[in-house]
Amino acid sequence: MRARPDRLQRLPEQYFGALLARVVAATSDGQPIVDLGRGNPETGPPQHVIDALADAANRHTAHGYPPFRGLPELREAIAQRYREVYGVELDPGSEVAVIPGTKTGIVELSLVLADDGDTILLPDPYYPDYPSGPALAEAGLGYVRLDPDRGWAPDFDSAPTDNVAAVYLNYPSNPCAVAAPAGAFERAVEFARATGSAIVHDFAYGDLVFDGREPQSFLATPGAKEIGIEMFSMSKSYGMAGWRLGFVVGNAEIVERINLLNDHCRVGVFRPIQEAAIAALTGPQDSVAERRDMYQRRRDRVREALPHTVCEGTFYVWFELPPGLTAEQLLTGHRLAVAPGEGFGPSGAGRARISLAVTDETLELGLERLARALAEG
Ligand SMILES: Cc1ncc(COP(=O)(O)O)c(C=O)c1O
Repeated sequence: MRARPDRLQRLPEQYFGALLARVVAATSDGQPIVDLGRGNPETGPPQHVIDALADAANRHTAHGYPPFRGLPELREAIAQRYREVYGVELDPGSEVAVIPGTKTGIVELSLVLADDGDTILLPDPYYPDYPSGPALAEAGLGYVRLDPDRGWAPDFDSAPTDNVAAVYLNYPSNPCAVAAPAGAFERAVEFARATGSAIVHDFAYGDLVFDGREPQSFLATPGAKEIGIEMFSMSKSYGMAGWRLGFVVGNAEIVERINLLNDHCRVGVFRPIQEAAIAALTGPQDSVAERRDMYQRRRDRVREALPHTVCEGTFYVWFELPPGLTAEQLLTGHRLAVAPGEGFGPSGAGRARISLAVTDETLELGLERLARALAEG
């Protein structure tokens, strides 16, 4: 066989796969590790959603190929949610694409927006899966610095402007754990207009905002739909991460491109999953609020142990490691896995991310170990 094609060789190391492998390797001496590294929701969806999945799976007619572009009722359900919760009007026929999880969308959006030689801008720090799409699209990478002194707002004034095909943004932010700073989305629309680029907004943690904040969709910004899309995920709001379901919504031309790519690469999403997602989106929403409150409670607990940490949403805390202490030392010396900041972009060095998507017991144990390591350091 020939050597791997360049496009595969350009792929970065898969950050979370490598992190998990390091945690598994560190347990080979039989000593357990407390893992606060990964953001994998620890509780599943509400019972009525699981029942809807089981009911549909028990119907023999539900097992054939689903419609390529998703059930119309599911596209209507997400449009209804955008209307009622985020104040955004979407045409379910042309402004909603159904995708198997937003991780898929993250990669596919680079493929449908950039040509070889274009530049894609990522926020710095960024979610570690973002560089993969630009690598496959053979696009160059640039950064929009997020400014810690302005609530991690994107600093578009210092961002590259040549040949920019797309700008990825993500609020509530993983890893910075902040809600969208005032004016950030408006400035993004201006930048996209000025550079002829598209905005890709990752809204994976949209519903997980604390202290009475309202979820804030990028698409509610005037002009947003003319230049961009948003990705909505079922994983975090409903604890459906393993189900693999998400949406690309907004600009009709970008939605059409995603659908076109998927017409060639996939055949929709298993119909029972789509039916259960309709139940999740249109049924009682108490579980979303309960989940948000649970993470807020855990955030409060982390603040007792690590005062001064900012966490306005998501289920992460992003913090500065004291000089001399590394994530590797936490793992090998203190049996505590955190996500090392280096994988989150050029500005990530010296920082780490811990996850609140663990049981209360695991969080307590992890915080004890972290407090000990900080006291010793
Ligand atoms: C910022 C961000 N975007 C997207 C994803 C992927 O979500 P999905 O399960 O929809 O693929 C994650 C998962 O952790 C995430 O943190």
